[in-house]
Amino acid sequence: MQQVQAVIARTKGSPVEVVTINVPDPGPGEALVKVQACGVCHTDLHYREGGIGEDFPYLLGHEAAGVVESVGDGVTDVAPGDYVILNWRAVCGECRACRRGQPQYCFNTHNAKQRMTLADGPDAGTELSPALGIGAFAEKTLVAAGQCTKVDPSARPAAVGLLGCGVMAGIGAAINTGAVTRGRSVAVIGCGGVGVAAIAGSALVGANPIIAVDIDAQKLRTATRMGATHTVDSSQVDPVAEIKRISAEFYEGADGADVVIEAVGRPETWKQAFYARDLAGTVVLVGVPTPDMKVPDLPLIDVFGRGGALKSSWYGDCLPSRDFPMLIDLYLQGRLPLDAFVSETIDLDAVEEALDRMHSGDVLRSVVVL
Ligand code: APR
Ligand code: ZN
Ligand code: ZN
Repeated sequence: MQQVQAVIARTKGSPVEVVTINVPDPGPGEALVKVQACGVCHTDLHYREGGIGEDFPYLLGHEAAGVVESVGDGVTDVAPGDYVILNWRAVCGECRACRRGQPQYCFNTHNAKQRMTLADGPDAGTELSPALGIGAFAEKTLVAAGQCTKVDPSARPAAVGLLGCGVMAGIGAAINTGAVTRGRSVAVIGCGGVGVAAIAGSALVGANPIIAVDIDAQKLRTATRMGATHTVDSSQVDPVAEIKRISAEFYEGADGADVVIEAVGRPETWKQAFYARDLAGTVVLVGVPTPDMKVPDLPLIDVFGRGGALKSSWYGDCLPSRDFPMLIDLYLQGRLPLDAFVSETIDLDAVEEALDRMHSGDVLRSVVVL
């Protein structure tokens, strides 16, 4: 067992704290990872606010890259010294989804079996709940070996760790779930880290036009930097009409974009996405709604009459073992601007301030560098 510094959310709504935690040596199927960088994601904020569960204290952080320090019995896929991105869907290989060849929908993903615990104070020994089964705002963390995906070690940790969650969700929403490709028009509603990643993914595969929609002018400027060909400020104009107008400029007769990606997670913006797609087009919901939100009231004939597909995208329908190494190679070749997602690098003790800053227009990702 080792003791390291880590960021926890002790109770609902209270500021996060840096504390000392106990990290067990890896058991069978587990890996101990020395964390090098971990991005600050909305999900960490949702954990702190009790929006995901009541299993406090949470060990936060889940968009991380690091180096495997040691592995437990039976681990053959990764070895000490491997440079890895942590993922939160280590597939089992045995459930119905895995067996039918769709491991991206695995129903039984793995996490470490042993628990990390608080080291000090009256609560010493209390088991921690790692965010998304990772818990990487920590000098070292214990995960299932399958949560480690080996990538090219020359890639910068602060940038590549982001593929572990939000950036992968956005890129995957476009290229996996939406099957975006050249010759297709795309609109992305919501240009935070996830939406901008969907834009970068759409640009990577040659989509045109790529229409960015947001209510914040600064986010739209970022979207342009990341590959959007057009921007729509939906606080000023009707985004549905604008998406239809721009799409028709590129493809005669188009009545919307081929793929519309909703990266806000709200019924109103999902409804805009629904009506902004062309006939037989695809809507991809990658923004995460809250449990109280409802599907907007739509005439069923509109669902039928427009054909196409209404999809949701979990983690960008990614398969870490397939997608992470490929995307890191493209990054190293200068074809995927992962560095542009890193707005600032911070220390472990600055996570609370970073959570507060998350909604300001100029931060895509704050990244803890260890
Ligand atoms: N119309 C258009 N854009 C909107 C609207 C709206 N009505 N409301 C908010 N937005 C924009 C915000 O201005 C912001 O740029 O949506 C963006 C949301 O971005 P972030 O808050 O940075 O969130 P992000 O990290 O991109 O995640 C997006 O996916 O993972 C989930 O929980 C996450 O639901 C969130 C979503
Ligand atoms: Zn499975
Ligand atoms: Zn995340």
